[in-house]
Amino acid sequence: MILITGASGQIGVDLADELVTRHGPDAVLVTDLRVPEKLRPNRVYDVLDVTYMESVEKIIQQHSIHTIYHLAGILSATGERHPELAWNVNVNGVRNVLEAARRFGCRVFWPSSIAVFGPTTPKVNTPQATVTEPGTMYGATKVTGDLLCKFHATHHDLDVRSVRFPGIISHAAPPGGGTTDWAVDMFFQAVRKGHYTCFVTEETRLPMMYMPDAVKSVLDLMDADDDSITVRTSYNLTAFSFSAGELATAIQAHIPDFTVDYEPDFRQEIADSWPQSINDGRARHDWGWQPEYDLNAMVKDMLHYVRIRVKKEAAEAALDSGSDD
Ligand code: SER
Repeated sequence: MILITGASGQIGVDLADELVTRHGPDAVLVTDLRVPEKLRPNRVYDVLDVTYMESVEKIIQQHSIHTIYHLAGILSATGERHPELAWNVNVNGVRNVLEAARRFGCRVFWPSSIAVFGPTTPKVNTPQATVTEPGTMYGATKVTGDLLCKFHATHHDLDVRSVRFPGIISHAAPPGGGTTDWAVDMFFQAVRKGHYTCFVTEETRLPMMYMPDAVKSVLDLMDADDDSITVRTSYNLTAFSFSAGELATAIQAHIPDFTVDYEPDFRQEIADSWPQSINDGRARHDWGWQPEYDLNAMVKDMLHYVRIRVKKEAAEAALDSGSDD
């Protein structure tokens, strides 16, 4: 069976859908700290706290797990507010999963981040191998994870594969606690209110990717021949870069009355320490990475799904208020 940890998170919800489509509902065990309130049909749920080694081992044994998509983690903004929690979940979590995977012979996917880079890293077209001196606790946990992956791959022959995700834009599940969340929030507020107050400046430019490409990258990487994998820390990965102002303009092409104002908060400093664009040539060369969505295609698709979602939420809210009467 396949195990997904942190499956209620932004990537987990979409990745679980795709894995269930590919392998069938009984082949995928969906876990998180809690079982979600609204259960999806055709899902096998369980509860897993990855910070407890015994729990990780037990679930692997009980369900004969052969592949782990270890997505449980704390994002950057939450990590700055709760550094000890970030260290415990992100570092002890990945350590437990890698160690258990080694013992039970599982393959592992683990998402790293552009947050491994920091103020001393070249900001434009950031190379695969470069300075990794992040200024955040989140970044420190991701660098540590990159190195733990490499250690287990080289010392224990563990088949662990990883990518350094840029900001990911999606509509199914909210990201929650990240520095790149503005790129998702902007869509929902554009549709809900026609206005968004952005927590980074108009000029803030970051590498990004649309969720269908993020899911594709995970599956492509896991499908690749072992011989083709030359990076055992974590692969640089990107689809496109844009600034907050450029995203606003792209949304305005569909919603002309949409307005944005900018009130940077503590997340500005984190965003300023990250690359503006990423060189992902190694991923393209080694396992044929190629994103399908550019900025305009992503904006069009996002708006389509966000509109459907907002309409559904409004209909549900109307039903709820009706049933209170
Ligand atoms: N999207 C993540 C964050 O903002 C980066 O890995 O924290």
